[in-house]
Amino acid sequence: MRREKLISNIRNVPDFPIPGIQFKDVTTLFKDSECLQILSDIMYEMYKDKGITKVVGIESRGFIMGPILATRLNAGFIPIRKPGKLPAETIEETYDKEYGTDTVQIHKDALDANDIILLHDDLLATGGTMKAACDLVKRLHPKAIYVNFIIELKDLNGKDIFDPNIEIQSVLSL
Ligand code: PRP
Ligand code: MG
Repeated sequence: MRREKLISNIRNVPDFPIPGIQFKDVTTLFKDSECLQILSDIMYEMYKDKGITKVVGIESRGFIMGPILATRLNAGFIPIRKPGKLPAETIEETYDKEYGTDTVQIHKDALDANDIILLHDDLLATGGTMKAACDLVKRLHPKAIYVNFIIELKDLNGKDIFDPNIEIQSVLSL
């Protein structure tokens, strides 16, 4: 019931940003106060017992629910950003994505060996973005890593490129 409500508020935009892409627009979900609350509740329930110390959100659409979830979990928030945006010393990973290539960066001192990390992004398509983010975070040696999406596009099998030991959960599988 709660998930049906969320699904009904996702707008499908054909041919954005390029022809052939069916864009899942989550802005229509975020603008609905009931949906925003449901989403926050479901994600909190998924991770409340995992001992998460930091939520890591991926620019830019991972910056919306990431900090909301961090607040619910009493965790900190860490941004993974596109190149040239973080001011201090960074490490980076380059990856292929559904349309084009990109690079992501994180501050070298963003987390430490005691951290239990929840990586969050809005969408799992090919998995390239999150895999790069995961590889970045792994290089900083946290105690554990969990991965979360709002939407997983199941036909693209993005989960297949991840280490099977990493727990990946999505609120919606479409
Ligand atoms: C989109 C989406 C995910 C990623 C998913 O971000 O928000 O981050 O693509 O694709 P993948 O699983 O094939 O890597 P995008 O790079 O378009 O940028 P944005 O979040 O800044 O809009
Ligand atoms: Mg994104």
